[in-house]
Amino acid sequence: IGLRDIEIDGKKYATDEWTNTPSSIVSSVPRRLHLQKDHPISITRQLIESRFPGYRTHNTLFPVVTVNQNFDSLGFPPDHPGRNKTDTYYVNKDTVLRTHTSAHQADVFRGNTSDGFLISADVYRRDAIDRSHYPVFHQMEGARTWDRSIIQDSKELVRKIWDDVAQLPQHELNVSDPNPPIHPERNPLQSKHHMAEEAEAIAAHLKRSLENVVVEIFAQAQKAQQAAGQEISEEPLQVRWVEAYFPFTSPSWELEVFWQGDWLEVLGCGVVKQDLLINAGVPSRVGWAFGMGLERIAMLLFSVPDIRLFWSQDPRFSSQFTSPFPHDPSSTIAAAAPSSFSIKPFTPFSKYPAAPRDVAFWLPSTSSSAGGRLPTASSVHENDVMELVREVAGSDVEDVRLVDEFTHPKTGRKSLCYRVVYRSLERTLTNEEANGLHDSIRKALVEKLGVELR
Ligand code: PHE
Repeated sequence: IGLRDIEIDGKKYATDEWTNTPSSIVSSVPRRLHLQKDHPISITRQLIESRFPGYRTHNTLFPVVTVNQNFDSLGFPPDHPGRNKTDTYYVNKDTVLRTHTSAHQADVFRGNTSDGFLISADVYRRDAIDRSHYPVFHQMEGARTWDRSIIQDSKELVRKIWDDVAQLPQHELNVSDPNPPIHPERNPLQSKHHMAEEAEAIAAHLKRSLENVVVEIFAQAQKAQQAAGQEISEEPLQVRWVEAYFPFTSPSWELEVFWQGDWLEVLGCGVVKQDLLINAGVPSRVGWAFGMGLERIAMLLFSVPDIRLFWSQDPRFSSQFTSPFPHDPSSTIAAAAPSSFSIKPFTPFSKYPAAPRDVAFWLPSTSSSAGGRLPTASSVHENDVMELVREVAGSDVEDVRLVDEFTHPKTGRKSLCYRVVYRSLERTLTNEEANGLHDSIRKALVEKLGVELR
């Protein structure tokens, strides 16, 4: 392997000035939590797949994709913030670790092997550090299309889609969907490609399919909590559809669920942009797609309080779960659920003490030639601070947050103070260990980000 190469799960890639993927991220690529036997992320995947019997599953797609697959093929504009190095792990200028499972939509549509498919995979994003964010997480993509070319006319297509809606299981969910399925400005019809009746039928199939997923997940979560003797509310489950925007669907929505006092966003979805299907060589197909994060759902299904636990290899975590589904890492078809089963919530092992430490520093000044003028933009992106902390402290850091921000009135220099909370999930960190980690972080902030410690 050349000095300038990076090796990811056995494959070599040339690096360049865009490369920003650290070794800690590369080393999580082989973990594939969504395929590990009895892992809660895998059980969550299987549970959702069971709501789409007969859909073709793609669960082993490689995480290194081209910028074209991850962004261009989906219609992301060239200046979309998601493309920034601060948000995305680049392997090199043209290659990234996928930031979402949508990166595979065009290819799977092009393969055209089924009307419905599901893609589950690990995805990678530079982001904040707290108990619900980790730079590697898992998503499931789903899509369902209909082939227009085998159907006489648009009326017949619309009838066929509504027939398929009628075949879907019924539910008794309390659904709020206050907006019309199509709105000329906020949520437009692709009028060049679809009749309103077609988009409405597709939307109805999409919404009912996903409502059924949510019914199943939250019924399981409630049952699990009840069995574990926890208080559960008597209120019927409430969900709501919210208008949304994605570059590759229109109209688009998010589905939110009222859970333990808050509206929780569980997925994004919409009618697939016809240009994507045209570019993928299947211009006569029309349909819908969705994408959802598996960690968030697994956390509430299994009452897991910290996302880092999913990565733990401590048997006190991993031995607590048993999948009610057969182990199926190479299956290519979504299986139905066993007739009855229940999910057992996680029983926390002792929580070890937290060690909070603050670090305050002056940002490097960005005004060089402007002579005395205030710096315009912050020279350090927060995600760079987050990653530096991760690189040093790994999974012994639970939370990092900005607690103070100050601009000197005379010099215009800006100072930040971050609180880093160290806590291992597996043991008590000694004072010396926490101090040692914190000292290394202070040093790295100076060396790598050029800040001046206060
Ligand atoms: N890929 C989107 C995300 O990660 C979710 C999505 C998938 C939205 C498919 C619409 C259709 O946020």
